[in-house]
Amino acid sequence: MSSEGEAEAEAEAQYFCKDFDWEDLRAEIEANPSFAYHLESSSSSSSAPPESDVQAWKQFHLRHASGKFFKERRYLLKEFPELLSCPPNSMLLEVGCGNGSTALPILRANKDLIVYACDCSDETLERAKEIISAASTDASFKHRFRTFCCDLSTNGFPNWLACNPSQDNFLQKQSYCLSGVREDNGLHFTNLSPSEEFECCGGGVDFVTLIFTLSAVPLERMPKSVKECFIVLKPGGMVFFRDYGLYDMTMLRFEPDKQVGFREYMRSDGTRSYFFCLDTVRSLFLGAGFTELELDYCCVKSVNRQKGKSMQRVWVHGKFQKPALSCQ
Ligand SMILES: C[S@@+](CC[C@H](N)C(=O)[O-])C[C@H]1O[C@@H](n2cnc3c(N)ncnc32)[C@H](O)[C@@H]1O
Repeated sequence: MSSEGEAEAEAEAQYFCKDFDWEDLRAEIEANPSFAYHLESSSSSSSAPPESDVQAWKQFHLRHASGKFFKERRYLLKEFPELLSCPPNSMLLEVGCGNGSTALPILRANKDLIVYACDCSDETLERAKEIISAASTDASFKHRFRTFCCDLSTNGFPNWLACNPSQDNFLQKQSYCLSGVREDNGLHFTNLSPSEEFECCGGGVDFVTLIFTLSAVPLERMPKSVKECFIVLKPGGMVFFRDYGLYDMTMLRFEPDKQVGFREYMRSDGTRSYFFCLDTVRSLFLGAGFTELELDYCCVKSVNRQKGKSMQRVWVHGKFQKPALSCQ
């Protein structure tokens, strides 16, 4: 994850900001010989064992248990106004929720929305629950926030989240929903009772948020991760996407030895970050069956107040929809 100053800039950035033109930045970076290694595939591709990225995130959350990185991402409500105008009891799945930076402002803004939140780290889910419980005295608040632990890129989501009650009779539905729990493919639930597990079978969610999570997954496991989001959505449901964009300042700061693939880097703590161009995002989502509604760079010039330095931040904003009549 980025430093506190960078997290703050991300938290405050505005919808579709165009402080500068992305093509101008691209031309500048690609003409600068000191950035040449960022334009090439790395010869030293990662020798890390599979799922070491998930272990690295678990360690990250253990080290940062103080919640220091918590910054509410209030701008998301401007970027994705559907989260405010949806019918009561609509369901959102926040994927890779961390300590709740995305979930909290959404829960606050829409009192009728149910938020499922998952992460590969139990530690951060506990922290998120604490932060969300402490944020409101309204009892419904914490009941609308339901967490479960999963690795999106390998096992995917539990069956109960996407099972379709309209296709199953009562008994079939019950056994289908609980089978996802019994299999325990590395999935376990942190605040659902058995009766709630059954109640959860809602035929999928209305929205998925993928906010700075896909970039944390190794590139080769991104297609499966996006497909999982497609499967868990109801027909007509939407994914709201925001993540690091190509030539973001944090990409340019990685030294050559941190490059583990094309546009893919590993921090010293083993967590990864990929930097997306629009074509990569488009092919991941269209490849999974989504329709593109919005996709653009968000280019923000921000000032690091401590160092007095200007930073050129690039994020990708995307909105994708599962077709209304879609076979999974
Ligand atoms: C940069 S944080 C983003 C947190 C949050 N979405 C937000 O808006 O602040 C990325 C999160 O993804 C989680 N993560 C990384 N790989 C994952 C995986 N394979 N499955 C589930 N969560 C994962 C990490 O534990 C971390 O909390």
